[in-house]
Amino acid sequence: MKNLIFCLAIFFLFASCNDDKKEEAEEPEVSNIQKEWWKEAVIYQIYPRSFKDTNGDGVGDLKGIIQKLDYIDSLGVNMVWLNPIYSSPNADNGYDISDYRAIMDEFGTMEEFDLMLSEMHKRDIKFVMDVVVNHSSDEHEWFQESRKSRDNPYRDYYHWWPAEKGEPNYRYSLFDPKGEAWKYDSITNAYYLHYFSKKQPDLNWENPKVRQEVYDIMKFWAEKGVDGFRLDAFQFVSKDTTFPPLPEGYEKDVIKYYGMGPNLHKYLKELNQEVLSKYDVFAVSEGAGSNFEDAHSLVDADRNELQMAYHFKGMDVGNSLEGYKLSEFKEVYTKWDSAFAKEGWLSIFLANHDVPRMVSKFGIDSPEFRAASSKMLNTFILTMRGTPYVYYGDELGMTNIGFDSISQYQDIVAKNGYEKTINEGGDIDQYMAELKFLSRDNGRTPMQWDNSDNAGFTTGTPWLPINENFEEINVQTQNNDPNSCLNYFREIVKLRMENPVLVYGDYQLILPDNKNVYAYTRELDDQKMLILLNFSTENTSIELPEKFSKPELLINNYSEVQRKNSKLTLKPYQALIFNY
Ligand code: NOJ
Repeated sequence: MKNLIFCLAIFFLFASCNDDKKEEAEEPEVSNIQKEWWKEAVIYQIYPRSFKDTNGDGVGDLKGIIQKLDYIDSLGVNMVWLNPIYSSPNADNGYDISDYRAIMDEFGTMEEFDLMLSEMHKRDIKFVMDVVVNHSSDEHEWFQESRKSRDNPYRDYYHWWPAEKGEPNYRYSLFDPKGEAWKYDSITNAYYLHYFSKKQPDLNWENPKVRQEVYDIMKFWAEKGVDGFRLDAFQFVSKDTTFPPLPEGYEKDVIKYYGMGPNLHKYLKELNQEVLSKYDVFAVSEGAGSNFEDAHSLVDADRNELQMAYHFKGMDVGNSLEGYKLSEFKEVYTKWDSAFAKEGWLSIFLANHDVPRMVSKFGIDSPEFRAASSKMLNTFILTMRGTPYVYYGDELGMTNIGFDSISQYQDIVAKNGYEKTINEGGDIDQYMAELKFLSRDNGRTPMQWDNSDNAGFTTGTPWLPINENFEEINVQTQNNDPNSCLNYFREIVKLRMENPVLVYGDYQLILPDNKNVYAYTRELDDQKMLILLNFSTENTSIELPEKFSKPELLINNYSEVQRKNSKLTLKPYQALIFNY
């Protein structure tokens, strides 16, 4: 059985939209030009464990981020999102929070957090806090109390199923070695629900006290001055808490049966009123429901709920060792753009801490094409409509590490999946091959700063090995090379920041049937840009339509453009942007 692919598919189904019920709007619509600062941002995502360690314990820390703020500033980005930095036993690297008002010891102190925030603000860099409230850690005081007795005041902070009612109806857990989301707890002879690992019990949002706790926590951070919130796994906070049996074929629309529950919008309006409307902040939901309609219901401005969402359709592309087809990639991004052209706002990203490195998945990480393909992919992210999220290290073209042995992996998903495959008598070689490509650890290896020991990340032993290509792929080397991925990235961020057309302009796909080249235009009033991206290793010639007869070159990831009249030949992974 294709175990890992299956788990990943379920993971993304959990997070992603099933836009089969498409509201096809292939024609470009009039732009949504309601201007907002968070639409104009370029967000740099940092996995704090892996960015910069200053105390030699092998784990990145807040001081390290402070030390590197000038670097972040030099990229031209104007917002940073950090994965969770709260106190946590780290069953899922911080996505299991034991105290929402404290900083994880390994990362530093609250004073360091305050300093980091003010140093960011001094540089006009805004800050997004990860908020993980579909579940807490089982080591959170709330859960410790909740499990003590059935009449404990915290009992209803979580979902409990008394054993005398029989076994609860099946629910799938993403991170459980047996795939079971109900865990029996003998202390009170009851089961508790955990969609993720057993150390991440789901909070019961039906309980108004839980909701108030969350709003208070968010206000605590908003008072400190954070500028945004990323709401982890948020579509799952509202569930059908009668937990009925799952109907036949539920796998086709997992979200509908696991989340997007009847009260989600009530909670979101409350959250908006209690927190978001009171501060100059925005919130982005991880996940966007089951279809365009769901996604609109989360983010359309007149609903007063959230400002932005990530859909995961783009991440569903290419989740296999066979790779992906450009036609599918184009189709996903074109449909999602047109569905949100008039109203609503989304994120644009090709990687994060849950997926392989962008260049290894969508480009090619061999020495010949790595740099060109990484530059081309960053060109895509920074020229699409939606707020771009760039994952740390992708500005350098960092690649998958590709471990061979299970002992090298740290991620709970990799380890539990291994156990599950063994328990079920699955094909372990197939599992390991898939893991090598798709594991979340691929995207979590330490930042490559220079060519000294441990890539300048730590003086100790890094918590996850450094990719051995660090001597070639690192900040120091690329800083000194005008043609590096890093310097190209700075150029393209600057272009986005200086040209509202790249933020707000209408998008239109051209040359839809070209198998190698993704070509599109962005137009806003009289500003018009043409973007040509070769997603292949082949030289590819295209005929430019008449209206592009006098294009003015703005960006090129090669030194030349091969053009004869209307015929233009793109080199492997060439990226070009023109004014026309
Ligand atoms: C989504 C996060 O991105 C992922 O890293 C985490 O494991 C799960 N939510 C559970 O919090």
